[in-house]
Amino acid sequence: MQINNDRLIKINEYHFKQIDDIKLKLINEGKNIIDLGIGDPDIKTNCKIINALIAGLEYKDFNKYPSYEGIKELKTKIAKYYYDVYSVKLDLDEILILIGSKEGLSNIIPAVCNFGDYVIVPNPAYPVYEKCSYLWGAKPYSVPLKEENKYLLNVKDIPDHISEKSKLMIINYPNNPTGAVANKKFYLELIQYCKEKNIVLCNDGAYNEIIGADEKNISILQYDKNICIEFGTLSKTYNMTGFRIGYAVGNKKILNNLLKVKSNIDSGQFKPIQYAAIEALSLPREYVIDIRKIYDERRSLAKKILKKKNIQFYDSKGTFYIWCKTPKNYITEEFCKDILFKCGIIVTPGDTFGVCGKGYFRIALTVNKSNLIGALNSFKVYDK
Ligand SMILES: Cc1ncc(COP(=O)(O)O)c(C=O)c1O
Repeated sequence: MQINNDRLIKINEYHFKQIDDIKLKLINEGKNIIDLGIGDPDIKTNCKIINALIAGLEYKDFNKYPSYEGIKELKTKIAKYYYDVYSVKLDLDEILILIGSKEGLSNIIPAVCNFGDYVIVPNPAYPVYEKCSYLWGAKPYSVPLKEENKYLLNVKDIPDHISEKSKLMIINYPNNPTGAVANKKFYLELIQYCKEKNIVLCNDGAYNEIIGADEKNISILQYDKNICIEFGTLSKTYNMTGFRIGYAVGNKKILNNLLKVKSNIDSGQFKPIQYAAIEALSLPREYVIDIRKIYDERRSLAKKILKKKNIQFYDSKGTFYIWCKTPKNYITEEFCKDILFKCGIIVTPGDTFGVCGKGYFRIALTVNKSNLIGALNSFKVYDK
């Protein structure tokens, strides 16, 4: 049978799914693999979170369909979290619980856009923004993030004829893959631009908490709740990637549209997982600071080794990634394949995140120190 589906022409299988297949094959062949590819933390989930998950199985109706928008107790906890950490007040209808933030980042597109509308997305970026724009019949418009602009999106790179037909802009700070961090001035200017152009501005805040231990994290909602929403996730900060629990917060009309899409596609997250999320957000702030310290230590270790190897990287404390320039004389794909097949180390080629990622690769600091040191030191084999 032939399936003629133009929708998928611009979409490959998800990069990390392909890497998983190769990794499994190599492991089955007896090879030792260190995965600095996907951003899936190695740190154990706190036992209080796990106990809350288990306790949730005792609750009445735990097995029933959960509400689409999420349980009130978790929304209340997120409202408290936003107030305590960002001094942002949220009503419960300004909060929507998601089955991981990836779900919401896809569903926000039909929640805001007509077929054929533009979605302004950064490049390089988490691939979901661009691919899901295509999947939903919208058109992604890629704005290059440049090192000379500290990888902050510059609206001067958006032509008027594009902004006129744009309904949604997705940004992501702290930024995957570059590690860049945004500041107040940047957010204020972008909000002003989107207000003038009538564009919904959405910050993917997956790494809002993953910054230097001594730095203060910010939320876009500190500057506007009229045209902005922000996505959050417990995946990275609380080492809960497999739990699939995230949220969207901000303008209630936009969230209502998102809920309309979501409720036609899936249901709410399994209730015990939502109870586990409440427990995570109840952990003392020191927990988050300790997580940041772990990544701070790994980041500075990795940077030291990269410097020794003459591998250039973007120096920032955002996220748990390091954005590196491919060594001279190498094509990135060749470099990544070399270190995978000869050395058993997975890194992510920059063009996985879009054309502007060509010539770069990304390291995830999601393995313990000794594996990280071993992996990065072995880069020497491939000096040309
Ligand atoms: C920038 C960014 N946003 C969102 C996500 C998705 O997170 P979640 O596990 O909540 O779906 C990721 C995961 O890697 C990410 O890197």
